[in-house]
Amino acid sequence: MNTVLDIHGLEVAYGKVEALRGLGLTVGEGEIVALLGNNGAGKSTTVSAISGVVRSRAGSVTAFGENITAAPPWSIVERGIVHVPEGRRIFSRLTVHENLQLGGYTVPDTRSIDRRIEQVYDLFPRMAERRAQQGGTLSGGEQQMLAIGRAMVAGPRLIMLDEPSMGLAPLVVAQVMDAIVAINRAGTSVLLIEQNARAALKIAHRGYVIDSGRVTVTGSAAELRADPHVVEAYLGA
Ligand SMILES: Nc1ncnc2c1ncn2[C@@H]1O[C@H](COP(=O)(O)OP(=O)(O)OP(=O)(O)O)[C@@H](O)[C@H]1O
Ligand SMILES: [Mg+2]
Repeated sequence: MNTVLDIHGLEVAYGKVEALRGLGLTVGEGEIVALLGNNGAGKSTTVSAISGVVRSRAGSVTAFGENITAAPPWSIVERGIVHVPEGRRIFSRLTVHENLQLGGYTVPDTRSIDRRIEQVYDLFPRMAERRAQQGGTLSGGEQQMLAIGRAMVAGPRLIMLDEPSMGLAPLVVAQVMDAIVAINRAGTSVLLIEQNARAALKIAHRGYVIDSGRVTVTGSAAELRADPHVVEAYLGA
């Protein structure tokens, strides 16, 4: 399996707060990899470091065989790595369609943008129905679909989703997870950050549990579901 992402010894500090303390993980081509952990474990910092939004002070990030540790965010998007941040951050005054068009800002060919927007409408028929609705008036689940759809318009090879299930009702969580599976089957590798370990381990191939900026447990999704520590801390009795 080709390696999409390979992280070694990553350290990130915000002033005195050491958010990542030697974190390592890999994502292989075609995989859905879950990154689990409690509040403050360093999950969002990990994706922000990969996407070049925060600087690491040690360690390396390699994507598709190239060192991107100090690369600027735009160049990381150009390499096919997109980040759907926590809290969605869609443009609330723009329509669904305009939000999707903005997802193609790094794509020079407008025809491929239009084609990918149609693929998003196939994936999320709700978005097609609401294409003229203002983003800010969508429900939370619809906004999450829009945020994922907008990232897909960039044509990513790796999509990093930061807590896509946050604040969503169980049925909507299931719909979002189904969409992630569909995106993965169509050829995009996925790094899925979740506090909802149960939902994430249903669809992931492998996972990592992180605590205080380090990996504490790793294995296949089945191994993690059977790990007593993971069950107790993240899956409930
Ligand atoms: N901009 C910042 N300035 C200072 N400290 C920060 C900043 N961002 C994150 N931190 C700290 O870094 C640590 C890791 O935070 P991070 O957001 O990566 O955790 P997380 O695993 O995503 O948590 P959550 O599940 O709550 O989103 C925390 O202690 C947090 O307070
Ligand atoms: Mg976070």
